[in-house]
Amino acid sequence: MSSEDMSSEDMYLDYRGHTLPTETHSAQSLAFAEEFKFEDDDVVAVTYPKSGTVWMQEILPLVLNGGDLTPIQTIPNWDRVPWLEEKRLSIVVDKLISPRALVTHFPYHLMPASFHTSKAKVIYVIRNPKDVLVSSYYFHQMAGFLEDPGTLDEFIEKFLDGRVMFGKWTDHVKSWRHTELGDRIMYISYEEMVQDLPAALKRISGFVGKNLSEDIIQKIAENCTFESMKANNMSNFSLIPKQYMDNEKSPFFRKGVAGDWKKHLSTEQLARITSVICKEMEGERFSLPWSLD
Ligand code: A3P
Repeated sequence: MSSEDMSSEDMYLDYRGHTLPTETHSAQSLAFAEEFKFEDDDVVAVTYPKSGTVWMQEILPLVLNGGDLTPIQTIPNWDRVPWLEEKRLSIVVDKLISPRALVTHFPYHLMPASFHTSKAKVIYVIRNPKDVLVSSYYFHQMAGFLEDPGTLDEFIEKFLDGRVMFGKWTDHVKSWRHTELGDRIMYISYEEMVQDLPAALKRISGFVGKNLSEDIIQKIAENCTFESMKANNMSNFSLIPKQYMDNEKSPFFRKGVAGDWKKHLSTEQLARITSVICKEMEGERFSLPWSLD
């Protein structure tokens, strides 16, 4: 069924105040996530949607396996680095090879109990919310399992109110900054990855305890470019039926740049977004990697 045939009640479920699409999430998948047993050598990439999740699903197996291309060439991204909260996890969990890599959009307080008692490492990827908003607007147009975003003005209000998957961007970022994880968490920005992918890969590999040679870093970087991933059928969602993800409406690999918002947002829209987000970030002690203005 596509969004045209489904009511929003069928399309979404509510999980602890978060609206999640039923195509990918269910009461069972969320119960499975709650009971999930993290291992000490697990690595989990945490993102607010549209911040570089699928990119991490390419990077992590390569980094953890010393640049072996087999996983990214043979296993679809959703099975090779599954989402903690989604339906596929229970199906593939026994096939995951240690050290396991996962992704999640959960805010910190929804992480399962075993995460807190384990030593699993977290890589939090942050992206400029203006680009997240624009990326999400186009994603809502192509994803048949999400509600039509309406006009850009309408979508901006939904995004700022948190009436989208996983709520407000500001709440998500704040939740992962208010943790006591110490050296179990590393922060990296999408923009930093765009600007110098080999340098970002070195930081990531150092963090997960893999010291990779310059040649391997280069090999991984070449296989994780926007173009390589767009051409990789295991990563570009071409295996997904068009009714769920229609790359003709807007490709999943849409732009892959920092600052595309400048081409989409009017001065008024920008002022509205900046004022709401700056207000919600007021008083936070941590600094963001870019100016919100
Ligand atoms: P755009 O829509 O701005 O192009 P997520 O995986 O969290 O849903 O994020 C998707 C966004 O990450 C999309 O942004 C997509 O193009 C971008 N992306 C994915 N892989 C990338 C890569 N290798 N380089 C740059 N951007 C990438």
